[in-house]
Amino acid sequence: MSGIDMWEMTATLGEQLRAAARREPPEVPAASTALVCGMGGSGISGDFASVLAEVHGRRVAVHKGYGLPRWAREERPQVVAVSYSGNTEETLEAAREAATAGLDVVAVTSGGELAELAAESGWPCLQVPGGLQPRAALGHLLGAVLAAGEAAGWLPSQRQALSEAADLVDSLHAQGSTGRALATDLADALDGRIVVVYGSVGLTAPVAQRWKTQINENAKWPAWWSLLPELDHNEIVGWSSLAHLTRRVVGIVTLTDHADHPQVALRHRLTQRLTSGEVAWVGEVTSLGESELARMMSLVAVGDLVSLELAGRAGVDAAAVEVIERLKQLMRHETARKDQGET
Ligand code: F6R
Repeated sequence: MSGIDMWEMTATLGEQLRAAARREPPEVPAASTALVCGMGGSGISGDFASVLAEVHGRRVAVHKGYGLPRWAREERPQVVAVSYSGNTEETLEAAREAATAGLDVVAVTSGGELAELAAESGWPCLQVPGGLQPRAALGHLLGAVLAAGEAAGWLPSQRQALSEAADLVDSLHAQGSTGRALATDLADALDGRIVVVYGSVGLTAPVAQRWKTQINENAKWPAWWSLLPELDHNEIVGWSSLAHLTRRVVGIVTLTDHADHPQVALRHRLTQRLTSGEVAWVGEVTSLGESELARMMSLVAVGDLVSLELAGRAGVDAAAVEVIERLKQLMRHETARKDQGET
C-alpha cells in the first residue's frame, strides 16, 4: 500500500467518526459482554471499546493472539473479530474457534478471508471501506465495534460522542490549527529521540498504546508505552543506570485527562519531576472535549500528527510497513512448508 499518502488517509479520521455516528446498528443476538479479537491497527479498536464499556459498567476483553481464551467458552461473550484486511491469521483462528465453541461471532472487516468466512457461516459482517492502511481506518473499525456493542446491548449509543469526536478531530487536524502547531512542537522535541509514552489506566491507556504504535509504524521509529500507577512501582527506577545514554536519547510524553484519578494526576506531576533529570525531554499533552470518546480521539489526533511529522523528519514513507508484510509472507511460506512436510 506504499505510495498512498498517509497524511491524506490520516485526515479522514474525522469523516470516519462522522460516518460511524450514522451507522445503523446491525442485527445481532443480545450480549452483556464482548471479546474483541484483532491484531495491530485493528485490535486496538477493542482497547478503545473496552475503556468505553468500562465507563458504563460493562466488561469487554480484548484478545490479541491465536485461539480463544479458555474463559470465553464458559462466559460466552459476543465475539467481535476485527481484521481490516480480513486476512490476519491470529484473528481468523480466534473467529473459527469461537464459532466451533458455539459463540456468537460478528465480523468487522473490509473483505478478505474473514468476509468470506462470515458469509459462509452466516455471521453478521460489518463491512468497512477498503483502500486504507488498517491503522488509518481506526474511525471505521471502532465505529463498527461500537455499533456491534450498541446492537448487542453491552454499550449505550455513542452516536453523539462520535459526532463530537469527529468535529474535534477535524479541528485539530485542520491546516494552521493548534493541533498542527502542537504536533510540530512535539516532533521538534522528540526528533532524534526514542519516544516513551506515559498514560494511565483508563482513558489514556489505549491512546498511549496508539501513540507508540503509530510512531513505530508511520515513522519507523522506536517508541514504547507504559501506564501509571504501575510504572511508578518499577519502571521509574529504570532511568538511572544508563542515564548517561537516556539523557541524550529519550523523550517522555505524558498523556493526561481532566478526569484522571487525583492521585494519578499527582503521580504524573511527580513522575515528570523525578524523570526529568534522567531523560532528554519530558512533556505533557492533555485531552480536549466532553465525552470520553472525544477526549480519547483528541489525543489520538495529536499523536497521529506527531507520528507523521516524525516520519517526515526521518525521510520515510509513512504508509509503508514492509517489515510487517514481509513477516506475514514468511509466516505463510514457512507454515505451508511445515504443512507439506506433515502430509
Ligand atoms: C497496518 C497495521 C497493522 C495491522 C495488523 C493486522 O497499518 O496497522 O498493525 O493492523 O498487521 O492486520 P489487519 O488489521 O488487516 O487484521
